[in-house]
Amino acid sequence: MIKSIEIDENLENYISNNSYDLHPVQKEIIKHNNSLGEIKKMQISVTQAYFMQLLIKSKNLKKILEIGTFTGYSALSMALAVKDDGFITCVDKNKNTSDIAKTFFKKAKIDNKINLIVGSALEQLNILSERSEKFDLIFIDADKENYIKYYDMSYKLLTKDGLIIIDNVLWKGDVANYNKIDRMTNIIRDFNTYVKNDSKVEKYILPIGDGVTVCRKI
Ligand SMILES: C[S@@+](CC[C@H](N)C(=O)[O-])C[C@H]1O[C@@H](n2cnc3c(N)ncnc32)[C@H](O)[C@@H]1O
Repeated sequence: MIKSIEIDENLENYISNNSYDLHPVQKEIIKHNNSLGEIKKMQISVTQAYFMQLLIKSKNLKKILEIGTFTGYSALSMALAVKDDGFITCVDKNKNTSDIAKTFFKKAKIDNKINLIVGSALEQLNILSERSEKFDLIFIDADKENYIKYYDMSYKLLTKDGLIIIDNVLWKGDVANYNKIDRMTNIIRDFNTYVKNDSKVEKYILPIGDGVTVCRKI
């Protein structure tokens, strides 16, 4: 069996140096996040952003919802990939990081393509649902305790053939280490089992970043 290689920071840098160039503001966000210490881990990896950009471009996904934006790296990356008629709606409860993200969106001149709503994701998903909004891609990257709720609500907001991408599903690899029985690892395991048993979607767990599940609404 072929073993996947481990992507450390060096390799991640090599990948970005040998893929297409990052937008200057993507580089600025990475620099900003690196200055924040441990919390920088909130940001998705460069490789993961490339993957999502490729999906958006190749499937011409237009309406995108992001749950959990932090300082804006994933949202900016997606906004750079959508065509002119594409639009990203983001929700994050943290006003401070959202203000920083908005500054970066403006700097990249893509603020006309992104609406970042500051508020509780559950509340905002309910509002979007009441308005019968539909999305081609929903990216879930907020509090893991609510992942199952976000997943169920996202399914209802998804166009047919639309995609849900969920971050951190391999939880540093701990999900497969049965000596790890802490609360967060179990929450992610329960979530993965929940998605596995959902016959309404096709799903693939990919070992990118901290592990992503891609679900396609059948
Ligand atoms: C892992 S970070 C998102 C990282 C981002 N996707 C990126 O690539 O930079 C998770 C974010 O979810 C937000 N969050 C956590 N719980 C939330 C909730 N209940 N409602 C809305 N946002 C929430 C946090 O404020 C945080 O910014």
